[in-house]
Amino acid sequence: MKKVSAYSPATVANIVCGFDILGLCLNEPCDELMLEITDEPGVHIINKDDFDLPVDAEKNVSGAALLALMEEAKDVKGFILTSKKNIMPGSGIGSSAASAAGVVVAANHLLNNRFTKEDLVRFAMNGEKVACGVKHADNIAPCIYGGVTLIRSVFPLDIVCIDAPELHVTVVHPQIEVRTSDARQILKQQVLLKDAIKQWGNIAGLVAGFIKHDYDLIGRSLEDVIIEPVRSILIPGFHEIKTSSKEAGALGGGISGSGPSIFMLSKDAQTAKHIETAMKNIYDKMGIAYHTHVTTINKHGVKIV
Ligand code: HSE
Repeated sequence: MKKVSAYSPATVANIVCGFDILGLCLNEPCDELMLEITDEPGVHIINKDDFDLPVDAEKNVSGAALLALMEEAKDVKGFILTSKKNIMPGSGIGSSAASAAGVVVAANHLLNNRFTKEDLVRFAMNGEKVACGVKHADNIAPCIYGGVTLIRSVFPLDIVCIDAPELHVTVVHPQIEVRTSDARQILKQQVLLKDAIKQWGNIAGLVAGFIKHDYDLIGRSLEDVIIEPVRSILIPGFHEIKTSSKEAGALGGGISGSGPSIFMLSKDAQTAKHIETAMKNIYDKMGIAYHTHVTTINKHGVKIV
């Protein structure tokens, strides 16, 4: 086989308190891509959307991920990538991870799955480096493995898949730009011990809540005392959205990625729709344009079609 198509899904990472370590995969939206092996050396990129992303492989998130894979697949001369992004770059729902993860999963399919999923995460992290300067894996891992994933360690990679219960996810994306690199730069480099204790209590509670399928424990643990207080100032209406989503029945939620999207988790589809209405009401009142997504957790990650 020389050519393959794939859908590469959006992801939410950080799951509130799990900054850089906890992420989940969404069923919607998904990028669409087609990848072909070629004898023409290098990675050739054709963009079929309006985002004007770079076509120089080294400066392109997908290109950087494929180049990393080719370093370990010396028999491959080149790839032709046709990409149609449906996940808006800079939205906070793992747009760069979808670009990087989708292509390496597709390439591995063309190469008869010679690489492990962990190898693919390693390659795709080079795309995140291009996107924001840091090789974080918390969006890449759920995009490749599906479900909820924990990055116990990045160097060396140690990825743990977490068996979470059925969860519905409501996302609102206000149409403002927050660059991940900026949203990382404003973070404090030191934390108080009392905040760290709260945070690791919440992370442990969240993971236990997922594994025990204990929705109340999940809800109680969806609290971030370190990152959210700093980053939320970049997102208009953040606290209003959070309060009214909880009133509409959300278990909890927070900033998706580095923002500006905000996500909320809930137990059922009807509550997820109520939360969407509550979010819309806030931004309508504030006169802020937005997109919403109401979806569920995707258990499979990138899909070859
Ligand atoms: N963990 C990363 C961050 C996700 O919050 O900076 C960025 O999408």
